[in-house]
Amino acid sequence: MSDFVTLFEMGPRDGLQNEKRLIPAADKIRLVDMLSDCGFAKIEVTSFVSPKWVPQMADAAEVMAGIRRRPGVAYTALTPNMKGYEAARAARADEVAVFGSASEGFSQKNINCSIAESIERFRPVIEAALADGIPVRGYVSCVTDCPYDGAVPPEAVARVARSLFELGCYEVSLGDTIGAGTPETIARMLDAVLAAVPADRLAGHYHDTRGRALENIAVSLDKGLRTFDAAVGGLGGCPYAPGAKGNVATEAVARLLADRGFDTGLDLDRLTDAAAYARTLREDR
Ligand code: HMG
Ligand code: MG
Repeated sequence: MSDFVTLFEMGPRDGLQNEKRLIPAADKIRLVDMLSDCGFAKIEVTSFVSPKWVPQMADAAEVMAGIRRRPGVAYTALTPNMKGYEAARAARADEVAVFGSASEGFSQKNINCSIAESIERFRPVIEAALADGIPVRGYVSCVTDCPYDGAVPPEAVARVARSLFELGCYEVSLGDTIGAGTPETIARMLDAVLAAVPADRLAGHYHDTRGRALENIAVSLDKGLRTFDAAVGGLGGCPYAPGAKGNVATEAVARLLADRGFDTGLDLDRLTDAAAYARTLREDR
C-alpha cells in the first residue's frame, strides 16, 4: 500500500466560511499564497454558493482572481448548482466539488433540498465540468452523525457515496461534519462505503469537535484511505451544523503521518507559519 498520503488543504474555505467577521479578500489571498508554498497539491480556496446563505464566501471571484497560482497546485471551489459551477469556471477553478449529505435533515438545512433532489441538481454540474475537462470531487456530509437527525446508518452513507462516484466524481470525501464520529463508528461507516467505492477514491474529512479526528484518521489509514482533508490552524466549522468546530489541524495530521512513516510532501516549517497566520484571522484567537 502507498506510503504517500495526500492532505487536501481546506483552511481558506471550510476554515473561514463560518467566521462572523467578514475577512477581507486580501487576507484570504495572503493565506492561500502562504499555503501554495507549503507543498500541497490541492487547496480549497472558496465556495461559489449563495451569498445570502454564506456571506463570508461572497468574495469568491475576487479571491480566485487575486491568488498567485503556483504550477502544480490545483485551486478548487465548492459548486452546489449550475450557477455556482459557471461562476467557478469563469474564475478558473482547477477543480470543483459538489456537496451532498447522508442525512435528510442536514441536506435540507445546508442546501435546501432532499438528498434525491441534490443528486439531480449535481448531475448537470458534473456533466458540464467533465465536458470542460474540470475534475469534480463529491462530499458526503454527516457520515456518522447529523445535528438534526442523530445517528446516520452506514448504508445511507454508502448509497450517497456510490451515487456521487457513479455520476463521475473522481473522489468522494466523507465528512464527519460535527466531529461526533469515533474510531468505532467511522470504521463501521467505512466498511459499508468500501463495499461501494474503492479506498483510493475516498477521502476522510473529519472535524475535531470532540478531539477524536486524529484517531479517526488512524482507523481510516488502517482501512486503506490515503487522502485526508484538513485545515491549517484547525480553522473552521459549518454555518449549518451548529456547534461544529474546525477541521482537524493540517499540522497535527502532518505530524501524525510523519510519526507513522508516511510521506506528505509538505514543508512543516512553512506549514507552521501558515497556521500561525491562519489563527490570526479567527475571532476567538
Ligand atoms: P436556494 O435558496 O434553494 O436557491 O439555495 P435558489 O436556486 O432557489 O436561488 C435563490 C437565490 O440564490 C437566487 O437569487 C439565486 O440566484 C441565488 P435571488 O433571485 O433571490 O437574488 N443563488 C446563488 N447565488 C450565488 N451562487 C450560487 C447560487 N445559487 C443560487 N451558486 C443553495 C440553494 C444551494 C444555493 C443554498 O442553499 C446554498 O448556497 N447553500 C450553501 C451552503 C454552504 O455553503 N454550506 C457550507 C458548505 S458545505 C460544508 O461545509 C460541509 C463540508 O465541509 C463537508 C463536511 O464537513 O461534512 C463540505
Ligand atoms: Mg467540513
